[in-house]
Amino acid sequence: VDPKFIRNFSIIAHIDHGKSTLADRLLEVTGTVTQREMKEQLLDDMALERQRGITIKANSVSMRVVYEGQQYELNLIDTPGHVDFQYEVSRSLTCCEGALLLVDAFQGVEAQTVANAYNAIEHDLEIVPVLNKIDLVHARPDEVKEEIEQTLGLDASEAIGCSAKTGLNCQAVIDAVIARIPPPTGDNTAPLQAMVFDSLYDEFRGAIIFVRVMNGVVRKGDRIKFLQAGTEHEVVEIGQKTPKRTATDSLSAGQVGYMVCNIKSLGNVHIGDTVTTARGQQAEPLPGYEQPKRMVFCGLYPSDGQDFEQLREALSKLQVNDPSFVFEPETSDALGFGFRCGFLGLLHMEIVQQRLEQEADIDLVQTAPNVTYKIQRKNGEWIEVHTPTRVPEMGDIESFEQPVVRVSFVMPAEYVGGIMKLCADRRGAFVRQEYLSPIRVMLVYDIALAEVVYDMHDKLKSTTKGYGTMDYELRGYEQGDLVRMDILVKGERIDALSIVCDRRDADSRGRAIIKKLRQEIPRHMFEVALQAAIGTRIIARETISAMSKNVTAKCYGGDISRKRKLWEKQKEGKKRMKSIGQVDIPQKAFLAVLETG
Ligand code: GTP
Repeated sequence: VDPKFIRNFSIIAHIDHGKSTLADRLLEVTGTVTQREMKEQLLDDMALERQRGITIKANSVSMRVVYEGQQYELNLIDTPGHVDFQYEVSRSLTCCEGALLLVDAFQGVEAQTVANAYNAIEHDLEIVPVLNKIDLVHARPDEVKEEIEQTLGLDASEAIGCSAKTGLNCQAVIDAVIARIPPPTGDNTAPLQAMVFDSLYDEFRGAIIFVRVMNGVVRKGDRIKFLQAGTEHEVVEIGQKTPKRTATDSLSAGQVGYMVCNIKSLGNVHIGDTVTTARGQQAEPLPGYEQPKRMVFCGLYPSDGQDFEQLREALSKLQVNDPSFVFEPETSDALGFGFRCGFLGLLHMEIVQQRLEQEADIDLVQTAPNVTYKIQRKNGEWIEVHTPTRVPEMGDIESFEQPVVRVSFVMPAEYVGGIMKLCADRRGAFVRQEYLSPIRVMLVYDIALAEVVYDMHDKLKSTTKGYGTMDYELRGYEQGDLVRMDILVKGERIDALSIVCDRRDADSRGRAIIKKLRQEIPRHMFEVALQAAIGTRIIARETISAMSKNVTAKCYGGDISRKRKLWEKQKEGKKRMKSIGQVDIPQKAFLAVLETG
């Protein structure tokens, strides 16, 4: 295929602005799928999405269209919309020459619109603004155009207004892709050089690898080499998604497609890796390969210690599909044997938890999430800590660093004060404020990731009545005034409840956690003391007084079935408790550190 007649593009958008709907419509307009197939396809995709939780990873589809008498190959490369998967978005954008910047003509520019557009600009992509949902009576395309020009400095005068829902003007979107996005460059005679931008696991075929060929040609039967991984494989199938996997003989420079190479685990496929030939002249690795960064960690423990092996199996199975998720065994005095799990971010953590719950029928206790800390001990040694209990005693710490992120908020102007206060409370450093239009504002702050993980999203939604959106990117590690706070129940430290927080917040957080625990832990036959401590200094204390009577006494002894019911209920409740010392602690209590805001 002559690269002149290829266009590679992505759709970038804020969540819910209609990316999936537009993608479907483009497939229909180009005749790639018929309406009937679309329905069936939709069902397939839903099954797949159910299987994978949310579409967390990119995918691609190839379309053939005739434009001014010439046939073109259009490759739509999907990008995940969420901040946790920025790295994958970046890799997908590397494979494109242009992007449709899709903005809801009613909602306007949102935080992820800005983040994604900047990302595309950094990749030198030709950006075509598209205003979606112009069928809505409240659509305000002219104002939204202004917002695009204001925030992103893009010329929106030629933005295409369309409705992905009704199909209105979607042909114009296809025409713009061909007319405005440049064709790929690349040399078919150069050594093979292809970028891995996605992979997925197929039960029967193993890893399916998605690539964009930059230079050269790859053919079925070739022996190829992954430059980062250093592994060699034979290409047993090659092709494009149309949107079914359709095998071809080869992929040449500029093309996008998939390869099957008998690779059993996705752990052996690295997004961002470069594919070249194993024999003959090899290409240079493409720039920008990175290991996925796990930013958020939490402990997962089976409620019933017997389920430990079952949990390990379930986690391994998840990892086959999602190598960016990591886990290792961990023991807690309080919770027994479990695993410390690492995620790209909060949404990623939620997705993995959901899938665990759906796929493995295991009752889980999850500890509050925390970020990675970098600590220098007095002897000069640097350590990376993924769990608060591993933080050394304060006396042994020379320097205590935490990840800081740059957060962008977009909201109606009336909420600016509320968000500024929220950021100030969280010790955010103001970066800038920009008016997108007279009524919509973008605020940018640098804030410790731990504060964002704690409850920033919920607070944003409540402060702005749901109208605010946010996005963040990692800035790096910065020294903080941090302490480890421990929680003691009846004099015993509950390791799973330790947290790291800012010294200035310690008193109020400590008091709030203890108060919450007091509500969650039932009364016992004896008094239970709850304490929060930094080192040996107690900063908060509450007592749960002893229970006076047997609960079944209420049943007047007579009605045995009622008594039995009560006992059954208590037994059920017990299952979801952890017994520490002699104190029964319900699972919910282990999240007390999260819900104090
Ligand atoms: P995620 O998959 O969650 O990232 O969202 P998305 O950006 O892919 O949005 P999606 O295509 O799922 O659309 C979000 C909602 O907007 C759905 O309820 C669509 O039916 C609706 N929608 C999409 N396009 C249009 C449109 O042109 N007009 C109207 N009225 N609704 C639309």
